[in-house]
Amino acid sequence: MTHSTTERGTVVVGLQWGDEGKGKIVNYLAPLHDAIARYNGGANAGHSVVVNGERFALHLIPSGILHKGKPAIIGNGVVVDPQWLLEEIAKLASREVDTSALVLSDRAHVVMPWHKDEDDLRERWLRVASETSSSQPIGTTKRGIGPCYADKHQRSTAIRVIDLLRPDELRAKLASIVPMKNATLGALAAALPEAHRPPTSPAYTIDEVARQCEAWGTQLAPMIADASSRLMDIIDAGGKVLFEGANATLLDVDHGTYPFVTSSTTTALGAPSGTGVPMNAIGKVLGIMKAYSTRVGSGPMPTELIRSESDRALAHQIRERGREYGTTTGRPRRVGWLDLEMVRYSARLNGVTEIAVMLLDVLEGLEELRVCTGYTLDGKPARFNPDATWLARAIPIYTTLRGFIGDVSSARSFAELPANARAYIELIQRHLGAPVRYVSVGPDNAQTIQMP
Ligand code: GDP
Ligand code: IMO
Ligand code: MG
Repeated sequence: MTHSTTERGTVVVGLQWGDEGKGKIVNYLAPLHDAIARYNGGANAGHSVVVNGERFALHLIPSGILHKGKPAIIGNGVVVDPQWLLEEIAKLASREVDTSALVLSDRAHVVMPWHKDEDDLRERWLRVASETSSSQPIGTTKRGIGPCYADKHQRSTAIRVIDLLRPDELRAKLASIVPMKNATLGALAAALPEAHRPPTSPAYTIDEVARQCEAWGTQLAPMIADASSRLMDIIDAGGKVLFEGANATLLDVDHGTYPFVTSSTTTALGAPSGTGVPMNAIGKVLGIMKAYSTRVGSGPMPTELIRSESDRALAHQIRERGREYGTTTGRPRRVGWLDLEMVRYSARLNGVTEIAVMLLDVLEGLEELRVCTGYTLDGKPARFNPDATWLARAIPIYTTLRGFIGDVSSARSFAELPANARAYIELIQRHLGAPVRYVSVGPDNAQTIQMP
Protein backbone atom coordinates (compact mmCIF):
# COMPACT_ATOMS: atom_id res chain seq x y z
CA MET A 1 0.00 0.00 0.00
CA THR A 2 1.25 3.53 -0.70
CA HIS A 3 0.42 6.63 1.28
CA SER A 4 -0.83 9.94 -0.05
CA THR A 5 1.05 13.13 0.85
CA THR A 6 -1.69 14.30 3.20
CA GLU A 7 -1.36 11.15 5.29
CA ARG A 8 2.39 11.22 5.47
CA GLY A 9 4.27 11.79 8.69
CA THR A 10 6.97 14.22 9.76
CA VAL A 11 10.43 13.51 11.13
CA VAL A 12 11.78 15.98 13.68
CA VAL A 13 15.57 15.79 13.54
CA GLY A 14 18.38 17.77 15.16
CA LEU A 15 20.85 19.32 12.71
CA GLN A 16 23.74 19.96 15.12
CA TRP A 17 25.11 18.09 18.18
CA GLY A 18 21.84 17.71 20.07
CA ASP A 19 19.77 19.86 22.40
CA GLU A 20 18.44 22.01 19.56
CA GLY A 21 14.95 22.06 21.08
CA LYS A 22 13.46 18.93 19.49
CA GLY A 23 11.34 18.29 22.59
CA LYS A 24 9.70 21.71 22.40
CA ILE A 25 8.84 21.27 18.71
CA VAL A 26 7.56 17.70 19.11
CA ASN A 27 5.26 18.88 21.87
CA TYR A 28 4.19 21.85 19.71
CA LEU A 29 3.36 19.68 16.68
CA ALA A 30 1.89 16.73 18.58
CA PRO A 31 -1.73 17.97 18.31
CA LEU A 32 -1.47 17.75 14.50
CA HIS A 33 -0.43 14.10 14.60
CA ASP A 34 -2.01 10.81 15.59
CA ALA A 35 1.03 9.18 17.20
CA ILE A 36 4.55 10.14 18.26
CA ALA A 37 7.37 7.64 17.78
CA ARG A 38 10.97 7.65 18.98
CA TYR A 39 13.27 5.77 16.59
CA ASN A 40 16.77 5.89 18.04
CA GLY A 41 18.97 6.41 21.07
CA GLY A 42 18.05 5.76 24.66
CA ALA A 43 18.27 7.55 27.99
CA ASN A 44 21.25 9.52 26.64
CA ALA A 45 18.65 11.93 25.22
CA GLY A 46 17.13 14.70 27.29
CA HIS A 47 14.19 16.56 25.81
CA SER A 48 12.79 19.47 27.81
CA VAL A 49 9.25 20.60 27.32
CA VAL A 50 7.67 23.58 29.06
CA VAL A 51 3.89 23.44 29.48
CA ASN A 52 2.17 26.33 31.23
CA GLY A 53 5.44 27.31 32.87
CA GLU A 54 6.03 23.74 34.12
CA ARG A 55 9.21 22.03 32.86
CA PHE A 56 9.27 18.33 31.97
CA ALA A 57 12.50 16.46 31.10
CA LEU A 58 11.95 13.36 28.99
CA HIS A 59 14.67 10.84 28.24
CA LEU A 60 13.15 7.62 26.89
CA ILE A 61 9.49 8.51 26.62
CA PRO A 62 8.47 10.46 23.50
CA SER A 63 7.70 14.11 24.25
CA GLY A 64 4.19 13.56 22.82
CA ILE A 65 3.27 11.77 26.06
CA LEU A 66 2.16 15.11 27.49
CA HIS A 67 -0.87 14.91 25.14
CA LYS A 68 -3.29 12.63 26.94
CA GLY A 69 -4.33 9.53 25.07
CA LYS A 70 -2.04 10.08 22.08
CA PRO A 71 -0.04 6.91 21.33
CA ALA A 72 3.58 7.50 22.35
CA ILE A 73 5.66 4.76 20.81
CA ILE A 74 9.18 3.66 21.71
CA GLY A 75 10.36 2.08 18.47
CA ASN A 76 12.56 -0.94 17.84
CA GLY A 77 15.57 1.32 17.13
CA VAL A 78 15.64 2.59 20.72
CA VAL A 79 17.73 0.95 23.46
CA VAL A 80 15.67 0.79 26.63
CA ASP A 81 16.88 0.72 30.21
CA PRO A 82 13.80 -0.77 31.97
CA GLN A 83 14.75 0.63 35.36
CA TRP A 84 15.08 4.11 33.90
CA LEU A 85 11.84 3.77 31.94
CA LEU A 86 9.88 2.67 35.01
CA GLU A 87 11.29 5.59 36.99
CA GLU A 88 10.41 8.02 34.21
CA ILE A 89 6.86 6.67 34.13
CA ALA A 90 6.61 7.00 37.92
CA LYS A 91 7.92 10.58 37.84
CA LEU A 92 5.36 11.55 35.20
CA ALA A 93 2.59 9.82 37.16
CA SER A 94 3.55 11.82 40.26
CA ARG A 95 2.91 14.96 38.18
CA GLU A 96 -0.41 13.59 36.98
CA VAL A 97 0.70 12.81 33.44
CA ASP A 98 -1.23 9.86 32.04
CA THR A 99 1.18 7.34 30.46
CA SER A 100 -1.39 4.70 29.52
CA ALA A 101 -0.91 5.38 25.79
CA LEU A 102 2.78 4.39 25.95
CA VAL A 103 3.78 1.52 23.63
CA LEU A 104 7.14 -0.23 23.91
CA SER A 105 8.38 -2.16 20.89
CA ASP A 106 8.89 -5.85 21.58
CA ARG A 107 11.93 -5.62 19.29
CA ALA A 108 13.70 -2.80 21.11
CA HIS A 109 16.89 -3.83 22.89
CA VAL A 110 17.36 -3.81 26.64
CA VAL A 111 20.13 -1.81 28.28
CA MET A 112 21.41 -4.18 30.97
CA PRO A 113 23.39 -3.12 34.05
CA TRP A 114 26.62 -4.44 32.51
CA HIS A 115 26.23 -2.11 29.55
CA LYS A 116 26.59 0.83 31.94
CA ASP A 117 29.63 -0.84 33.57
CA GLU A 118 31.22 -1.32 30.16
CA ASP A 119 30.47 2.27 29.10
CA ASP A 120 32.20 3.49 32.25
CA LEU A 121 35.18 1.10 31.91
CA ARG A 122 35.80 2.01 28.27
CA GLU A 123 35.84 5.70 29.17
CA ARG A 124 38.29 4.94 32.02
CA TRP A 125 40.60 3.11 29.59
CA LEU A 126 40.48 6.07 27.20
CA ARG A 127 41.28 8.43 30.07
CA VAL A 128 44.33 6.34 31.01
CA ALA A 129 45.49 6.39 27.37
CA SER A 130 44.94 10.16 27.18
CA GLU A 131 47.68 10.64 29.80
CA THR A 132 50.32 9.39 27.39
CA SER A 133 48.77 9.90 23.93
CA SER A 134 46.45 12.20 22.02
CA SER A 135 43.49 9.83 22.45
CA GLN A 136 40.49 11.24 24.32
CA PRO A 137 37.48 9.80 26.13
CA ILE A 138 34.28 10.17 24.05
CA GLY A 139 32.57 11.84 26.98
CA THR A 140 29.56 9.51 26.84
CA THR A 141 26.53 9.90 29.06
CA LYS A 142 27.43 6.52 30.65
CA ARG A 143 23.91 5.29 30.04
CA GLY A 144 25.21 2.07 28.43
CA ILE A 145 24.17 3.15 24.93
CA GLY A 146 27.26 2.09 22.92
CA PRO A 147 27.71 -1.32 24.58
CA CYS A 148 23.98 -2.11 24.19
CA TYR A 149 24.00 -1.31 20.45
CA ALA A 150 27.23 -3.32 20.11
CA ASP A 151 25.52 -6.34 21.69
CA LYS A 152 22.49 -5.83 19.43
CA HIS A 153 24.82 -6.32 16.47
CA GLN A 154 26.68 -9.17 18.19
CA ARG A 155 23.27 -10.91 18.59
CA SER A 156 24.29 -13.71 20.98
CA THR A 157 24.83 -11.35 23.93
CA ALA A 158 21.73 -9.18 23.36
CA ILE A 159 18.41 -9.09 25.16
CA ARG A 160 15.30 -7.78 23.47
CA VAL A 161 12.22 -6.42 25.22
CA ILE A 162 10.21 -9.51 24.19
CA ASP A 163 12.71 -11.66 26.11
CA LEU A 164 11.51 -10.05 29.34
CA LEU A 165 8.19 -11.85 28.78
CA ARG A 166 9.79 -15.28 28.17
CA PRO A 167 11.45 -16.26 31.47
CA ASP A 168 12.64 -19.73 30.44
CA GLU A 169 14.23 -18.61 27.19
CA LEU A 170 15.72 -15.62 28.98
CA ARG A 171 17.39 -17.84 31.61
CA ALA A 172 18.88 -19.95 28.82
CA LYS A 173 20.35 -16.80 27.24
CA LEU A 174 21.63 -15.51 30.55
CA ALA A 175 23.45 -18.80 31.14
CA SER A 176 26.01 -17.76 28.55
CA ILE A 177 25.74 -13.96 28.77
CA VAL A 178 26.27 -13.50 32.52
CA PRO A 179 29.54 -15.49 32.85
CA MET A 180 30.86 -13.86 29.67
CA LYS A 181 30.11 -10.34 30.98
CA ASN A 182 31.61 -11.12 34.41
CA ALA A 183 34.77 -12.45 32.75
CA THR A 184 35.28 -9.68 30.20
CA LEU A 185 34.31 -6.75 32.40
CA GLY A 186 36.16 -8.18 35.41
CA ALA A 187 39.32 -8.42 33.30
CA LEU A 188 38.83 -4.91 31.89
CA ALA A 189 38.48 -3.51 35.42
CA ALA A 190 41.33 -5.52 36.97
CA ALA A 191 43.84 -4.48 34.31
CA LEU A 192 43.26 -0.76 34.87
CA PRO A 193 45.92 1.10 36.86
CA GLU A 194 44.77 1.14 40.50
CA ALA A 195 44.02 4.86 40.62
CA HIS A 196 41.59 4.47 37.69
CA ARG A 197 39.87 1.28 38.81
CA PRO A 198 36.16 1.44 39.78
CA PRO A 199 35.46 0.70 43.46
CA THR A 200 33.77 -2.64 42.66
CA SER A 201 34.17 -5.17 39.89
CA PRO A 202 31.08 -6.50 38.04
CA ALA A 203 29.91 -9.84 39.54
CA TYR A 204 26.42 -10.73 38.34
CA THR A 205 24.54 -13.94 39.13
CA ILE A 206 22.19 -15.55 36.61
CA ASP A 207 19.51 -15.93 39.25
CA GLU A 208 19.50 -12.33 40.37
CA VAL A 209 19.52 -10.96 36.83
CA ALA A 210 16.77 -13.37 35.75
CA ARG A 211 14.58 -12.30 38.69
CA GLN A 212 15.19 -8.62 37.90
CA CYS A 213 14.25 -9.17 34.24
CA GLU A 214 11.09 -11.06 35.17
CA ALA A 215 10.06 -8.22 37.49
CA TRP A 216 10.66 -5.70 34.70
CA GLY A 217 8.68 -7.91 32.30
CA THR A 218 5.72 -8.04 34.68
CA GLN A 219 5.67 -4.27 35.09
CA LEU A 220 6.19 -3.44 31.42
CA ALA A 221 3.96 -6.19 29.94
CA PRO A 222 0.88 -3.98 29.42
CA MET A 223 2.80 -1.63 27.10
CA ILE A 224 4.89 -4.18 25.17
CA ALA A 225 3.59 -4.67 21.63
CA ASP A 226 4.53 -5.07 17.98
CA ALA A 227 5.06 -1.33 17.59
CA SER A 228 5.70 -1.52 13.86
CA SER A 229 2.24 -3.05 13.27
CA ARG A 230 0.63 -0.51 15.62
CA LEU A 231 2.16 2.32 13.62
CA MET A 232 1.18 0.76 10.30
CA ASP A 233 -2.41 0.38 11.54
CA ILE A 234 -2.47 4.09 12.42
CA ILE A 235 -0.99 5.02 9.03
CA ASP A 236 -3.33 2.71 7.08
CA ALA A 237 -6.30 4.32 8.85
CA GLY A 238 -5.16 7.71 7.51
CA GLY A 239 -3.29 8.79 10.64
CA LYS A 240 -0.10 10.85 10.70
CA VAL A 241 2.95 9.93 12.71
CA LEU A 242 5.45 12.38 14.19
CA PHE A 243 8.89 10.76 14.38
CA GLU A 244 10.93 12.17 17.26
CA GLY A 245 14.66 12.06 16.59
CA ALA A 246 16.99 11.86 19.56
CA ASN A 247 20.62 13.01 19.72
CA ALA A 248 21.37 14.70 16.38
CA THR A 249 22.94 14.56 12.94
CA LEU A 250 26.56 15.25 13.88
CA LEU A 251 26.25 12.48 16.50
CA ASP A 252 25.11 9.94 13.88
CA VAL A 253 27.21 6.76 13.97
CA ASP A 254 27.82 6.87 10.21
CA HIS A 255 27.52 10.52 9.23
CA GLY A 256 28.57 12.38 12.38
CA THR A 257 31.93 13.52 13.76
CA TYR A 258 33.07 9.93 14.19
CA PRO A 259 34.34 8.60 16.57
CA PHE A 260 32.90 11.38 18.77
CA VAL A 261 29.32 10.31 18.12
CA THR A 262 26.63 8.16 19.68
CA SER A 263 25.93 4.61 18.47
CA SER A 264 22.67 4.95 16.53
CA THR A 265 21.32 6.36 13.29
CA THR A 266 20.22 9.72 14.59
CA THR A 267 19.35 11.23 11.20
CA ALA A 268 15.97 11.02 9.49
CA LEU A 269 17.45 8.05 7.64
CA GLY A 270 16.96 6.08 10.87
CA ALA A 271 13.22 6.72 11.20
CA PRO A 272 11.96 3.91 8.94
CA SER A 273 14.31 1.22 10.26
CA GLY A 274 13.98 2.41 13.86
CA THR A 275 10.18 2.17 13.84
CA GLY A 276 9.46 -0.43 11.18
CA VAL A 277 7.48 1.77 8.79
CA PRO A 278 8.27 2.23 5.09
CA MET A 279 10.03 5.34 3.82
CA ASN A 280 6.98 6.45 1.86
CA ALA A 281 5.10 6.92 5.16
CA ILE A 282 7.30 10.00 5.67
CA GLY A 283 6.38 13.21 3.87
CA LYS A 284 8.21 15.98 5.75
CA VAL A 285 11.56 16.31 7.45
CA LEU A 286 11.69 19.21 9.88
CA GLY A 287 15.30 20.08 10.72
CA ILE A 288 15.77 21.67 14.15
CA MET A 289 18.69 24.03 14.66
CA LYS A 290 19.81 26.40 17.38
CA ALA A 291 20.68 29.96 16.43
CA TYR A 292 24.22 29.14 17.68
CA SER A 293 26.14 25.92 18.40
CA THR A 294 26.45 23.74 21.47
CA ARG A 295 28.06 20.40 22.08
CA VAL A 296 28.34 18.11 25.11
CA GLY A 297 31.27 15.68 25.39
CA SER A 298 34.47 15.52 23.34
CA GLY A 299 35.12 16.02 19.65
CA PRO A 300 35.88 18.81 17.22
CA MET A 301 33.79 21.99 17.26
CA PRO A 302 35.45 24.50 14.92
CA THR A 303 33.30 27.49 15.93
CA GLU A 304 33.67 26.93 19.68
CA LEU A 305 34.11 30.15 21.65
CA ILE A 306 37.17 29.09 23.59
CA ARG A 307 40.31 30.61 22.12
CA SER A 308 40.47 33.93 24.00
CA GLU A 309 39.35 35.38 27.31
CA SER A 310 36.66 37.48 25.60
CA ASP A 311 35.41 34.43 23.62
CA ARG A 312 35.15 32.41 26.83
CA ALA A 313 33.26 35.25 28.54
CA LEU A 314 30.84 35.36 25.62
CA ALA A 315 30.37 31.58 25.74
CA HIS A 316 29.62 31.91 29.45
CA GLN A 317 27.02 34.61 28.78
CA ILE A 318 25.28 32.49 26.11
CA ARG A 319 25.45 29.38 28.33
CA GLU A 320 23.73 31.16 31.21
CA ARG A 321 21.06 32.83 29.06
CA GLY A 322 20.32 29.63 27.13
CA ARG A 323 20.48 27.39 30.24
CA GLU A 324 23.06 25.38 28.37
CA TYR A 325 23.58 22.56 30.84
CA GLY A 326 22.92 18.96 29.81
CA THR A 327 19.35 17.79 30.47
CA THR A 328 20.73 14.29 31.07
CA THR A 329 24.10 14.74 32.79
CA GLY A 330 24.00 18.38 33.94
CA ARG A 331 27.37 18.99 32.20
CA PRO A 332 27.94 22.57 30.97
CA ARG A 333 27.51 22.55 27.18
CA ARG A 334 30.35 23.85 25.01
CA VAL A 335 29.17 26.96 23.15
CA GLY A 336 30.10 28.39 19.75
CA TRP A 337 28.99 30.55 16.86
CA LEU A 338 26.45 29.13 14.44
CA ASP A 339 28.15 26.75 12.02
CA LEU A 340 25.85 27.20 9.07
CA GLU A 341 28.10 25.32 6.70
CA MET A 342 27.80 22.28 8.96
CA VAL A 343 24.03 22.72 9.19
CA ARG A 344 23.91 22.85 5.39
CA TYR A 345 25.59 19.44 5.32
CA SER A 346 23.01 18.14 7.84
CA ALA A 347 20.04 19.67 6.03
CA ARG A 348 21.08 18.01 2.79
CA LEU A 349 21.80 14.64 4.37
CA ASN A 350 18.43 14.54 6.11
CA GLY A 351 16.57 15.81 3.07
CA VAL A 352 14.99 18.54 5.18
CA THR A 353 11.85 20.06 3.74
CA GLU A 354 11.66 22.81 6.38
CA ILE A 355 13.64 24.29 9.24
CA ALA A 356 12.95 25.47 12.78
CA VAL A 357 15.43 27.99 14.21
CA MET A 358 15.45 27.78 17.99
CA LEU A 359 16.68 29.92 20.90
CA LEU A 360 16.99 33.09 18.80
CA ASP A 361 16.19 35.13 21.93
CA VAL A 362 19.45 33.98 23.55
CA LEU A 363 21.50 36.04 21.07
CA GLU A 364 19.61 39.26 21.82
CA GLY A 365 21.88 42.10 22.92
CA LEU A 366 25.14 40.80 21.41
CA GLU A 367 26.95 43.51 19.47
CA GLU A 368 27.86 41.36 16.50
CA LEU A 369 27.08 37.83 15.39
CA ARG A 370 29.47 35.58 13.54
CA VAL A 371 28.29 32.73 11.35
CA CYS A 372 30.52 30.10 9.72
CA THR A 373 29.56 29.99 6.06
CA GLY A 374 32.50 28.00 4.67
CA TYR A 375 35.78 26.30 5.43
CA THR A 376 39.37 26.30 4.31
CA LEU A 377 41.86 23.49 4.70
CA ASP A 378 45.56 24.11 4.15
CA GLY A 379 44.72 27.55 2.83
CA LYS A 380 42.26 26.36 0.17
CA PRO A 381 38.45 26.46 0.18
CA ALA A 382 37.16 23.06 1.30
CA ARG A 383 33.83 21.30 1.48
CA PHE A 384 32.54 20.32 4.94
CA ASN A 385 33.55 16.85 6.00
CA PRO A 386 32.27 15.40 9.31
CA ASP A 387 35.39 13.28 9.87
CA ALA A 388 36.81 14.32 13.26
CA THR A 389 40.41 14.58 12.04
CA TRP A 390 39.41 16.69 9.03
CA LEU A 391 37.23 18.94 11.16
CA ALA A 392 39.94 19.47 13.76
CA ARG A 393 42.19 20.89 11.02
CA ALA A 394 39.62 22.91 9.07
CA ILE A 395 39.40 26.69 9.54
CA PRO A 396 35.95 28.31 9.56
CA ILE A 397 35.26 31.30 7.30
CA TYR A 398 32.97 33.73 9.07
CA THR A 399 30.30 36.11 7.87
CA THR A 400 29.76 38.86 10.44
CA LEU A 401 26.34 40.40 11.02
CA ARG A 402 25.25 43.24 13.26
CA GLY A 403 23.57 42.05 16.46
CA PHE A 404 19.98 42.81 17.42
CA ILE A 405 18.37 44.41 20.43
CA GLY A 406 14.74 44.47 21.48
CA ASP A 407 12.22 42.27 23.21
CA VAL A 408 12.73 39.25 20.96
CA SER A 409 11.07 36.77 23.32
CA SER A 410 7.76 38.67 23.10
CA ALA A 411 7.68 38.72 19.28
CA ARG A 412 4.82 36.67 17.88
CA SER A 413 5.36 37.29 14.18
CA PHE A 414 8.36 37.62 11.89
CA ALA A 415 7.52 41.28 11.35
CA GLU A 416 7.76 41.94 15.10
CA LEU A 417 11.38 40.77 15.23
CA PRO A 418 14.12 43.44 15.09
CA ALA A 419 15.38 44.02 11.52
CA ASN A 420 18.82 42.53 12.29
CA ALA A 421 17.20 39.39 13.71
CA ARG A 422 15.20 39.05 10.49
CA ALA A 423 18.45 39.43 8.52
CA TYR A 424 19.97 36.62 10.58
CA ILE A 425 17.05 34.30 9.73
CA GLU A 426 17.20 35.32 6.09
CA LEU A 427 20.91 34.45 5.95
CA ILE A 428 20.11 31.00 7.38
CA GLN A 429 17.37 30.44 4.83
CA ARG A 430 19.56 31.56 1.94
CA HIS A 431 22.55 29.49 2.93
CA LEU A 432 20.54 26.32 3.55
CA GLY A 433 18.29 26.67 0.53
CA ALA A 434 15.39 25.42 2.66
CA PRO A 435 12.46 27.36 4.10
CA VAL A 436 12.56 28.42 7.74
CA ARG A 437 9.08 27.48 8.93
CA TYR A 438 9.35 28.24 12.66
CA VAL A 439 11.40 30.66 14.73
CA SER A 440 11.46 29.96 18.45
CA VAL A 441 12.00 32.86 20.85
CA GLY A 442 11.52 31.13 24.21
CA PRO A 443 10.83 27.71 25.73
CA ASP A 444 7.05 28.14 25.84
CA ASN A 445 4.74 26.99 23.03
CA ALA A 446 3.40 30.52 22.68
CA GLN A 447 6.94 31.73 21.95
CA THR A 448 6.91 30.09 18.51
CA ILE A 449 6.71 32.23 15.40
CA GLN A 450 5.19 30.58 12.33
CA MET A 451 6.75 32.06 9.24
CA PRO A 452 4.49 33.71 6.70
P1 GDP B 1 16.39 18.61 22.73
O1 GDP B 1 17.32 17.60 23.31
O2 GDP B 1 16.67 18.89 21.29
O3 GDP B 1 14.94 18.31 22.97
O4 GDP B 1 16.71 19.97 23.49
P2 GDP B 1 16.86 20.15 25.10
O5 GDP B 1 15.53 20.09 25.70
O6 GDP B 1 17.92 19.25 25.62
O7 GDP B 1 17.51 21.61 25.15
C1 GDP B 1 16.83 22.73 24.64
C2 GDP B 1 16.61 23.73 25.80
O8 GDP B 1 16.23 24.97 25.27
C3 GDP B 1 15.49 23.32 26.73
O9 GDP B 1 15.82 23.76 28.03
C4 GDP B 1 14.28 24.09 26.19
O10 GDP B 1 13.30 24.36 27.19
C5 GDP B 1 14.94 25.35 25.75
N1 GDP B 1 14.33 26.04 24.61
C6 GDP B 1 13.71 25.53 23.51
N2 GDP B 1 13.41 26.52 22.65
C7 GDP B 1 13.85 27.68 23.19
C8 GDP B 1 13.87 29.04 22.76
O11 GDP B 1 13.44 29.39 21.67
N3 GDP B 1 14.44 29.95 23.61
C9 GDP B 1 14.96 29.60 24.82
N4 GDP B 1 15.47 30.57 25.57
N5 GDP B 1 14.95 28.32 25.25
C10 GDP B 1 14.43 27.37 24.44
P1 IMO C 1 19.37 15.00 22.80
O1 IMO C 1 18.36 14.03 22.25
C1 IMO C 1 23.58 16.17 23.42
C2 IMO C 1 26.57 12.94 23.21
C3 IMO C 1 27.26 12.69 24.54
C4 IMO C 1 28.62 12.21 24.04
C5 IMO C 1 28.25 11.39 22.80
C6 IMO C 1 28.19 9.89 23.03
O2 IMO C 1 19.03 15.55 24.13
O3 IMO C 1 19.72 16.03 21.78
P2 IMO C 1 26.50 8.32 24.35
O4 IMO C 1 26.13 8.30 25.81
O5 IMO C 1 25.36 8.50 23.44
O6 IMO C 1 27.37 7.15 23.97
O7 IMO C 1 27.45 9.63 24.20
O8 IMO C 1 26.99 11.86 22.38
N1 IMO C 1 25.08 12.90 23.24
C7 IMO C 1 24.30 13.99 23.30
N2 IMO C 1 24.62 15.30 23.40
N3 IMO C 1 22.28 15.80 23.35
C8 IMO C 1 21.95 14.49 23.23
O9 IMO C 1 20.68 14.07 23.05
C9 IMO C 1 22.99 13.52 23.23
N4 IMO C 1 23.01 12.17 23.14
C10 IMO C 1 24.30 11.81 23.13
O10 IMO C 1 27.37 13.88 25.28
O11 IMO C 1 29.40 13.30 23.61
MG1 MG D 1 18.62 17.38 24.90
